[in-house]
Amino acid sequence: MYNTSVLEHFLNPRNVGCIPDADGIGIIGDPNCGDYLKIYIRVQEGKLIDVKFEISGCPAAIATSSILTELAKGKTVEEALRITDLDIIKALGGLPDPKIHCSNLGAEALHKAIEDYLAKRPKQKALQNTKK
Ligand code: FES
Ligand code: FES
Repeated sequence: MYNTSVLEHFLNPRNVGCIPDADGIGIIGDPNCGDYLKIYIRVQEGKLIDVKFEISGCPAAIATSSILTELAKGKTVEEALRITDLDIIKALGGLPDPKIHCSNLGAEALHKAIEDYLAKRPKQKALQNTKK
């Protein structure tokens, strides 16, 4: 029921893992029951230079998270915030109807990670200033 692109990302997911000391982390779900996705981002000069994910979820959730990391890498924070579940589905060439909702996980977790980064940022700046 999945197209070859979805299957390929499911079998060889890109950017799996964690980023130690990530600039932002977004978590969706509960690891003890059901789907769980954690996205880590590294931001430099306003751009997402690295994006990684850890997941417990269905094949569609794994494939959509994998392509999401490819979509998000290299984007500015503002551009990455505009990535939607539809962009993810389009990039994969479509998903079966019952699996459309799975792409939500990735978009939501990415947006949470960016919000986390933005929320932490003033503090990081303040810390740097006190060090000077
Ligand atoms: Fe735990 Fe639903 S996420 S019961
Ligand atoms: Fe729940 Fe795919 S993420 S069925």
